[in-house]
Amino acid sequence: MQHLIAPSILAADFANLQRDIELVNASEADWFHLDVMDGVFVPNISFGMPVIKAIAQHAKKPLDVHLMIVDPDRYIEEFKNLGADVLTVHYEACTHLHRTVQSIQTHGMKAGVALNPHTPVEGLKDIIEDVDLVCLMSVNPGFGGQKFIERTYDKVRALRKMIDDSTSCALIEIDGGVGPENWEKLVDAGANVLVAGSSTFRASDPHAAVRKMKGMQ
Ligand code: DX5
Ligand code: ZN
Repeated sequence: MQHLIAPSILAADFANLQRDIELVNASEADWFHLDVMDGVFVPNISFGMPVIKAIAQHAKKPLDVHLMIVDPDRYIEEFKNLGADVLTVHYEACTHLHRTVQSIQTHGMKAGVALNPHTPVEGLKDIIEDVDLVCLMSVNPGFGGQKFIERTYDKVRALRKMIDDSTSCALIEIDGGVGPENWEKLVDAGANVLVAGSSTFRASDPHAAVRKMKGMQ
């Protein structure tokens, strides 16, 4: 499949949020990536329900919501009501991951599981056929604009093999430090969705940056 680009709104200008949402609507990007942080699971607080509600009113592309929060089960229904299409929880934050994944799907959303940089992909072996997306963190979660961790390429390849050796149709998403320099190597390794925060919104020409990461120029 053609890979997807998901600009992370964390890097948008919050004083001009509607403008930046329209920018993504008008671009070749595929999804909106929304990072929700609780100040407990990660050492930062981003935005919550009212902001997502406002984004959903203007966004014309799927909402890919990345929960960096403890006990995400408490909010699954609320995120569905806010308009989330993909809801991703952290492997490290879920004691009963299988139940959480089932609950997300029962609520009519695609279920994603995110792995921190230190978490091996092998831990997904017994759930890979039940998830719709695996998000490999290529930075430590909590902040935009960090440096890409090179070890991620090996993780993508190992995960690609695990998926291809199974009946799983899970998409592989890469989150953190992705940009014009490394998108192609990630796609070659088997990635399907590239989150691009700084590399979209901090680019001198965001439309051109997205087109480049889509392989269009
Ligand atoms: C980090 C977030 C990322 C972040 C990516 O915790 O999950 O989605 O916004 O930002 P960039 O693309 O700037 O590394
Ligand atoms: Zn994210």
